[in-house]
Amino acid sequence: RIAPAEAPRKVTHRSVVLITGGGQGLGAEMAKELAKRSKCALVLFGRTPLEKEAATWVRLSAEELGAMKQRLWEGLKQDKAVKATPALLEREFSKVKKAVDLHRAIEAMSLLGSKVTYLQTDMADAASVAKSVKAALKAHNRIDYVVHAAGLEESKLLADKKVEDFDRVYRAKAHGAYNLLKCIPPVRGQRWAFFSSVVGRFGNLGQADYAAASDFLAKLSASMNSARRGAGGLYPTPAVTFDLTAFAEIGMATRGSVEAFLKSQGVDFMPPAEGVRLMLDVLLGDVDAHEVLVAGALGKLDAEGLISSAPRADTRRSSADSAETAKEAPAAAPRGGLDEGAVTREIVALVTEKTGYPAEMLELDLDMEADLGIDTVKQAELIGMIRDNYNIAKSENLSLKDYPTLRHVIGFVMSGGSTPSAAPAASVAHHSISQAAAPAEATPAPALVVPEGAPLYDQVLSTNGDGTKTGKTFSLESDPWLNDHAIAKTPYVAGVMGLELFVETAAKRLGKTPSALADVHFALPIKLLRQKPVTVRTVVGDDPQMRIESDFISPQGIKLGAPRTHFTARVADTVPAADVEARAKAFVKTLKSDKPVVPASAVYEAYFHGPRFQVLAGLLAAGDTELVGLYRAPAAPLWDKGGRALMFQPMLIEAAFQTCGFRDLNTRKKMTLPDSIESVRVYDAGPAPKELLVYARWRGAVDAGDGGDRSLYDACVLGRDGKVWATLIGYRMIAVS
Ligand SMILES: NC(=O)c1ccc[n+]([C@@H]2O[C@H](COP(=O)([O-])OP(=O)(O)OC[C@H]3O[C@@H](n4cnc5c(N)ncnc54)[C@H](OP(=O)(O)O)[C@@H]3O)[C@@H](O)[C@H]2O)c1
Repeated sequence: RIAPAEAPRKVTHRSVVLITGGGQGLGAEMAKELAKRSKCALVLFGRTPLEKEAATWVRLSAEELGAMKQRLWEGLKQDKAVKATPALLEREFSKVKKAVDLHRAIEAMSLLGSKVTYLQTDMADAASVAKSVKAALKAHNRIDYVVHAAGLEESKLLADKKVEDFDRVYRAKAHGAYNLLKCIPPVRGQRWAFFSSVVGRFGNLGQADYAAASDFLAKLSASMNSARRGAGGLYPTPAVTFDLTAFAEIGMATRGSVEAFLKSQGVDFMPPAEGVRLMLDVLLGDVDAHEVLVAGALGKLDAEGLISSAPRADTRRSSADSAETAKEAPAAAPRGGLDEGAVTREIVALVTEKTGYPAEMLELDLDMEADLGIDTVKQAELIGMIRDNYNIAKSENLSLKDYPTLRHVIGFVMSGGSTPSAAPAASVAHHSISQAAAPAEATPAPALVVPEGAPLYDQVLSTNGDGTKTGKTFSLESDPWLNDHAIAKTPYVAGVMGLELFVETAAKRLGKTPSALADVHFALPIKLLRQKPVTVRTVVGDDPQMRIESDFISPQGIKLGAPRTHFTARVADTVPAADVEARAKAFVKTLKSDKPVVPASAVYEAYFHGPRFQVLAGLLAAGDTELVGLYRAPAAPLWDKGGRALMFQPMLIEAAFQTCGFRDLNTRKKMTLPDSIESVRVYDAGPAPKELLVYARWRGAVDAGDGGDRSLYDACVLGRDGKVWATLIGYRMIAVS
């Protein structure tokens, strides 16, 4: 929303403008434009030191700089203390390049008439920022405009990132802004601008840290503007965040293979002069907004068609699409007639083109990531491109970790895309999961007698000495109940269906159906992003801990990183003694009436569940610590046709989850979701009566050691005849915002 500002602002030769990251890239472009327009005083922050030699380097021709780089390479090769790799050379030579760019930029600004003060500063470090701001204030007394343009980007899947990698990217932008706020005094007429990215709005593969930091800036400017309007917030000064698209010619989107990739996604590149003009129009003009998108067409980045006029459908190949296509693709054809020497030359030429490394540096056994600096997201793009070039069919089994070097990639082409055979697995002594330890006071949990029929899983992927794996694709078509288990239109696989997959897969492995699970953790929700299907594997092996996991598939249909673990659990041969059943029987006897004290309409006004998941016909008791839900089988079946023979009473356990959660909604005014269960037991897998009672007892709030607490419950599902159908002991729920 763009509203008129109080008054257009002016930059004059008397203004003082601080630009972080102003020595290079887009920050420097804006600084030069301001110098041109006003000759204002410029204060620039950046980590690159001012090098004395830069004045000499800047006069060198491209050939002379190339020769300098070659000498650096020879030196690295002779240095026994380091491994000379292209990535190391780039890191070392970038110091020269940056020093030259910085020198050039400062020289240009000075020639345009601005006084330039450059202060070496790390925006991620509060002390460094405070020191530089103090120096700037000493030199100029005040700061009229603050432009926080510093930022960096390192694409890699979140699962493959170390915490320090995430921090480096996040802190430069987000902490950088906050560090400035802490030490720059607001003065009349002061205005702030933050350089953020469209990625903060739309997300992008491998950029979780960058997106989070970008979005933080947008929220920060909103907070500053509301503080200015007296509505609370951090810092009472107008601020605007620019969500920038990719820029042409200069800056981070022109490096490596980023530009080619973004263009292939249909992203329009912004000419720098045009982008800077648009930003200055807002910063100095008569508009007032806290977040402004500076972009042309965003192609597949804007998958939902939020701003593009492009058609919504099919604008982005999701991982699930790719997996689907992979399934349909024919098997890889043998590559008779390919000459390995020619393939090697072609692949090296492609990598040279994408990375800028000269061919002679590209030794075939160098590690793509560590030695060539090609991150996993870009590796996936590269392999996708090579696959297209050589007409190799997509394969569901293509995993990036199988191709760490160019030699592996060449092998991939020569073999027509067949997956390298895995090293023979070390033989492991086989321990049945049924031998899992159980507490001494536990009672046996006998096997369940289960109904005949199709299981929830789609297929058994493997079953051998190492374990049993089943596969299941959840989609709105195959599992229409997902429509009724959706939050903000995103379907979530209900935790109880995870329990069902565990029990079914364990039954396949053990030859009998376990009646109890223990140590259940719902670590990472399984959700159908943009309502696309999601495929999971349930793995039951020698490790007593079973898991449900999924792969992250790149838009090119290539597996990236390690599998993500969603849920874990183990089969419990025995269950701990618990008093919940006796309590439940005693408590339900005290109920005065069959009429709910809380009607179903009130329950589902608060909850997100649709008709197929509306398992409570109300609550018969809703006290602070004890509740009784009235389970009623929903009128609509989970599947319209081709129903499944479920083994572990998911809807009864769901009723227990909802009864416990209702207390959190009612008493704590918090929506909570399943977090973990110490033990869950089903007594009878047969068809349950249409109506049952669900007793839930709140045992308190437990400190989870992660800054948040969990509400802890026991629950028991029983008939009016006293027959117990299921119990949950130590069920924890976690609050969601
Ligand atoms: N270029 C694009 O297409 C694009 C698109 C969307 C958003 N953006 C945003 O626009 C801004 C500028 O991008 P750019 O393309 O010009 O990038 P760039 O060429 O890589 O320049 C980034 C600048 O930030 C500085 N910087 C990075 N980390 C820093 C830190 N910890 N402390 C101090 N300075 C730091 C760098 O200086 P030193 O290396 O000397 O520290 C450099 O001057 C970034 O915030 C970026 O996220 C750019």
